[in-house]
Order: sequence, then structure tokens, then C-alpha cells
Amino acid sequence: MFHVIDPRVFERPLLDELCALATRARLLAKSDTGARALRDLLPTRRAMLYFTQPSTRTFLSFNNACHILGMRTSEIRDPSTSSEVKGESFEDSIRTFSSYVDVIIMRTKESGRAAQAAQLMNGIPRPVPVINAGSGSDQHPTQALLDIYTLQRSFEETGGIDGKVIGMMGDLKRGRTVRSLCYLMKNYRGVRLVFIAPEQFAMQSDVKAHLDEHRIPYTETPRLDDALPSLDALYVTRMQTEWDTAARESQAVDLARFSIGPPELSRLKRDAIIMHPLPRGPEIAPAVDQDPRAMYWRQERNGMWMRAAVLIKIFGAEDRIADGT
Ligand code: CP
Repeated sequence: MFHVIDPRVFERPLLDELCALATRARLLAKSDTGARALRDLLPTRRAMLYFTQPSTRTFLSFNNACHILGMRTSEIRDPSTSSEVKGESFEDSIRTFSSYVDVIIMRTKESGRAAQAAQLMNGIPRPVPVINAGSGSDQHPTQALLDIYTLQRSFEETGGIDGKVIGMMGDLKRGRTVRSLCYLMKNYRGVRLVFIAPEQFAMQSDVKAHLDEHRIPYTETPRLDDALPSLDALYVTRMQTEWDTAARESQAVDLARFSIGPPELSRLKRDAIIMHPLPRGPEIAPAVDQDPRAMYWRQERNGMWMRAAVLIKIFGAEDRIADGT
């Protein structure tokens, strides 16, 4: 593993290995001795967190994952504080980061920027791995990895992810988390997807073509009620209003139809789970937080362990925590 740009490259053995690494790191961190062992894993490595699009979880979970592993971090979150305001090109900025650090973790408003940065590494003497921490409305591969980890942990006692019915609800057209998660589903046998979205925010045809190619069955409905009783997992997303044009398309959606609260909970299987990449809007009522099926707070914490696993794997330190260090 070098760059992490596109979720389509992940195969089942690597996904299983990353989940096992995330669990190993999570369990080690529970004791002082284990936490110290984790901190001794990558103390000579440095990371650049280049987040020019807003983020709370992805930024903080990567930042803390780095620190848990003993790495040092630098950051740019506001491009107005970097030499980009003096006209420095994106290419020169990325090359400059690579002069100082060992990995670039980046989130941008524009799609394809992380791929562009990774491409740039091919032509320079000191290439470093690039991790896509969210690119435009296109892809969010490490979110998909932590989502897989959450699904796997949740279904540990019930046969794993294979054979599960997974509903994805909300703004599926512009939600990069659900798009990336769909790309990982080819790795699991017998999974069925149910897309629950307003017609104008339906899952896009490129993702559906990928699902068809890999013979992953999916159905589409604008009615949550029809889908609810069959679901093993309901992955809720918010309206991605940041991508609205001047016409404010999101406002035309009757959000109540794509939301979950106590009445919907009563129709969901007792052992189903509710996920959300967060931040949430009104699509999950706060009352749902008390329900044991609400998995989104664990999901965001899983992000830190999965991102630690990704860094461990990128730097080839996995053998050092396989059976203790
Ligand atoms: N899920 C997610 O990407 O959250 P942030 O935007 O807060 O990083």
C-alpha cells in the first residue's frame, strides 16, 4: 500500500488485514504499556494534514491517529495562510509538503486533487504517499474503510458483512461517503443494497454501473417505510447543501421522508444498526442516540483506529504489532 486515493483498489484480504490492525491498535491503546508500544511504532515519521475543506472528524481522527503512533504533524487548514495566496501553484505546494514530511493527508473541495497529488509524486526524487481524506463530492476512501470496520465489528456475531442488506438513505448523488462505500461492497458475498433517496438525489449511474459489473444487487425507493423491515444496516446521510447551486435544490426535499426517529426505530430489526458519517442534520432525531442500534458515535471513533491502521500499513509497521511489539 502506498497512496490511498480510490476505494476500488481495496481487495478483501487487505480490508480484513486493516480491520485486524485497527482492532489490535484499539486494544493495545487500552493499557499504558500498549499505548507506549504504539507511540514507539512511527516516531521518526511526519505527516502533513492539508485540509482546505472543512472537517472535524477526518482531521481530528487522522491527527490523533498520527499522535497515537508517535508521529509528528503539520497542518494547513486555511489556504489564505499559505503561499497559495501569493500564487504558488497546487503542484509546487504539494512538492513543498513532500520536502518536509513522509505522508500527505489531504482534503479538498475539488474532486481529483488527491489523485493529482499522487500522480505528481511519480516525477519527483522524494515521493511520499498521499492519502485522500475527501475529494469534492466524489470519493472518501478512508471513510469507507472505517465504515467497513464498523459493519464488521457490528456483525461479528452474526456472520460478518456477507449476506447483509444495507440501506443507504439521503443525498446519495452528492454524498462521497456512500459512493466510496458502494465501491467496497464487491468484496462481500451476498450483500444487497437498498438506495432510499429523493429522485433528484438518487445514486449516480457511475456507481450503479460498478455495482452491475460486480453483480451486486441493489434496489431504489423513495420510501423508507417499504425498506425498513428488511434492513440489517441503515446508513443515513445528510443533504449535502454545500454543493447546492443558487437554486438551492436541497430545499425542495421533504426531509421528513428521509429521516429516522422513534416511529422508524420501531420498524427496524432488533439487531440492525444505524450508521451516519456525521455531521448530521435533522435526518437523525437526537432521541435515536439512546437506542443501542445507533452506531454512529462508535463509527466516528472507529475512524481513528482505522486511520491508524492505514498509517501502520503504509509505513510497513504491521509486523511490529502483530503479536505485541
Ligand atoms: N465524516 C466526515 O468526513 O466528517 P468530517 O467532515 O467532520 O471530517
